[in-house]
Amino acid sequence: MPKKTTISIIKCDVGSLAGHHIVPKPIFDVAEKNLKKASEEGVINSFCVFNAGDDLELLMVHEKGEQNHMIHELAWNIFREAADKASQLKLYAAGQDLLKDAFSGNVRGMGPGVAEIEIEERKSEPIVVFAADKTSAGSFNYPLFRMFADPMNTAGLVIDPNMLCGFKFEVIDTLEDKSITLKCPEEMYELLALIGTVGRYIVSRVWRASDDLICAASSVSKLSLIAGKYVGKDDPVMIARAQHGLPAVGEILAPFMHSYFVQGWMRGSHWGPLMPVGLKASKCTVFDGPPRIVALGFQVADGKIACDDDGNLLIADLFDDPAFATARREAIHNACTLRNMGEFEPARLSAEDMEYTTIQQVLEKLGPRFKPLDA
Ligand code: F6R
Ligand code: MG
Ligand code: MG
Repeated sequence: MPKKTTISIIKCDVGSLAGHHIVPKPIFDVAEKNLKKASEEGVINSFCVFNAGDDLELLMVHEKGEQNHMIHELAWNIFREAADKASQLKLYAAGQDLLKDAFSGNVRGMGPGVAEIEIEERKSEPIVVFAADKTSAGSFNYPLFRMFADPMNTAGLVIDPNMLCGFKFEVIDTLEDKSITLKCPEEMYELLALIGTVGRYIVSRVWRASDDLICAASSVSKLSLIAGKYVGKDDPVMIARAQHGLPAVGEILAPFMHSYFVQGWMRGSHWGPLMPVGLKASKCTVFDGPPRIVALGFQVADGKIACDDDGNLLIADLFDDPAFATARREAIHNACTLRNMGEFEPARLSAEDMEYTTIQQVLEKLGPRFKPLDA
């Protein structure tokens, strides 16, 4: 059996500083301490703790496979301990995403978001991990489509003979709990018919069609559907493999040269422009946003994140780059345009998408005051 390596990113909003804005240092410390211990004990091989706004992100590289009990329990216990720390410090919304009390083998469906891929390492294995805040799971439909199906974004689809075969997309229908796999370019229009509805259909995995090589995975949790009410945002994560018969890192990043609109800004109830930022700007401020995304690039080598001779991880903060300044400017400009519209659609989500937000309580109060119109 060839040796396999798993990349897991598991995230959770356990409580934040100054509203829903940023993960503070004491929370990072809890995660670092526990992951260091797990790595010394050989449970994981490498880890990196970072944040996307108010979400604590645990990136772990190991050999235990996807949906592994030990790895998920490790993440769950870290989130619990971090949430306790957040409560002690009276951070805001401590334990927000921990929707269940007892761990039951897998963090899926319990609040935290997960993206995982198990791979057979190629000769060289470049990986990009994305994490976004103040947005929802369907926000990665658009860039995933552009990376793996749009020849105007990914030159390799036209130029690299290893990519001419196209890619397969697994799409989850989050309302009906069903999935379908569609192949591009043949079924591109059908794929777009589904994934343009970002509030319902979510691209969860992508494979290269010629050999079923796993290329990308994103988290698909919808917290509102787990809890049956508004409990915060899904704030998704995604992993993409790059190069040598797959989109180049540059093609994976190209969809973010321009800002695009995503659901989930302020109170999970507004459209907002997604802003690619480096880790130092990974904090949500104005109107609790604008929604932000960070991207980390690294090499997986021998079951680990590649490091230097002193054991320091070699990780690139990919959006910390003036090449994304236009997208940031566009995001701010579009944020101003939307905010000028206040509570009027399309700045606010449609009634259907507001179904799981707190506006329902406001509308219920008004219910009895409605009178039938005279015939
Ligand atoms: C929540 C979030 C925020 C909050 C908003 C109101 O994940 O990102 O936009 O929805 O700050 O929060 P509350 O109701 O807790 O005051
Ligand atoms: Mg929060
Ligand atoms: Mg968040």
